[in-house]
Amino acid sequence: MPHDFMLGLAGVPAAKSAVSDVDGQRGILEYRGIRVEELCGRSSFLETAWLLLFGRLPSQSELERFVRDVTLHRRIKYRIVELLKCLPEQGHPMDALQAGVAALGMYYPGRNVADADNNYWSAVRLIAKLPTIVAAYARLRRGDDALPPRDDLSFAENFLYMLTERVPDKALSRTLDVCLILHAEHTMNASTFAGIVTASTLADPYTVVASSIGALKGPLHGGANEEVVQMLREIGSPAQVTPYVQGALAAKRKIMGLGHRVYKVKDPRATVLQGLCEQVFRECGPSPLYAVAVEVERVSAELLAGKPIYPNVDFYSGIVYDKMGIEADCFTPIFAMARVAGWLAHWFEQLRENKLYRPDQIYEGEHNRPYVPLSQR
Ligand code: ACO
Repeated sequence: MPHDFMLGLAGVPAAKSAVSDVDGQRGILEYRGIRVEELCGRSSFLETAWLLLFGRLPSQSELERFVRDVTLHRRIKYRIVELLKCLPEQGHPMDALQAGVAALGMYYPGRNVADADNNYWSAVRLIAKLPTIVAAYARLRRGDDALPPRDDLSFAENFLYMLTERVPDKALSRTLDVCLILHAEHTMNASTFAGIVTASTLADPYTVVASSIGALKGPLHGGANEEVVQMLREIGSPAQVTPYVQGALAAKRKIMGLGHRVYKVKDPRATVLQGLCEQVFRECGPSPLYAVAVEVERVSAELLAGKPIYPNVDFYSGIVYDKMGIEADCFTPIFAMARVAGWLAHWFEQLRENKLYRPDQIYEGEHNRPYVPLSQR
């Protein structure tokens, strides 16, 4: 097998899965067979999370129970808050989230992954507590107290409340909820793969999710949303877009938020997010970044003509969050708050037919080299 063929495992199936599917040629994403656009229009993040975890839409009573369970498990131990207080305030919130999630596992009995009931409660805790950790670190690092969650608020409302100390307008929290639906799952990407590799060792789910958070942080994966907004700010105005894109392509630099391993057309999530931008602008006023982004999309399509490189999910999401007043380095943690649903769905799947991941390699080093004593080197 030629070496190039395996680089990045491109095109190599790593698992069988019924969680989601992408048709990269037609730009279709389905969660458990349902188009993501339909879920964005009609579902909520928690209902979508249940769908991903259990493979079908919940009944009214199943949904009510899940929403109640998640709502009642949003609190985090004061010791986790103390841990977050000890982290450097200039550190990245993804690192704080990863540390917080790993620490959660020290408080909750998640080790026996053969116990389905225990696994349900681990999933509930993780979905419930990630937003609390993200909001707590965001506040603590600027000197504010962490706010306890409010049980009378919906999932998205409560997150924005814990972040800003204000109960958001319904339209804004619905927009965030739709963003969470869009980010909840995406087949065998790097962070999901990192998670199932860890899961295959029968590690506890907190460790599984901490592994996935680490993989999501990189700029080639979820970290791109933060870099897109930095890039748009650096470009500054639509007039500057052509020289910027020309310069980047000449220097072989990637345009952040464009391109995808699987999509060869515009990512359907980018299309929905572009629509959400318009909604947020109605609520919060227009964003100068949006006009720059639209021009980057246009100019890149022109200059990259012939290459299937179009906006991905990270291209417009940052503009939505930025307009909501969320700091750029919290964009990827918000991505993680949503994607935890998909990671856990794959974890459930992995446990059902587990086999330890232990791939092979193509050894390119030498053999039979002598050990040269230090004095002779
Ligand atoms: N800007 C400019 N050129 C690009 C871009 C881009 N964003 N993306 C791909 N290309 C070009 C590459 O330079 C390469 O060109 P070449 O064949 O002339 O050398 C070709 O397209 C293939 O690119 P690869 O990086 O090899 O393709 P891969 O499938 O590995 O890349 C990836 C996918 C990593 C997402 C890439 O498109 C990229 O780096 N994009 C920018 C980062 C980004 O937005 N990441 C978020 C992805 S979505 C997510 O993870 C949630």
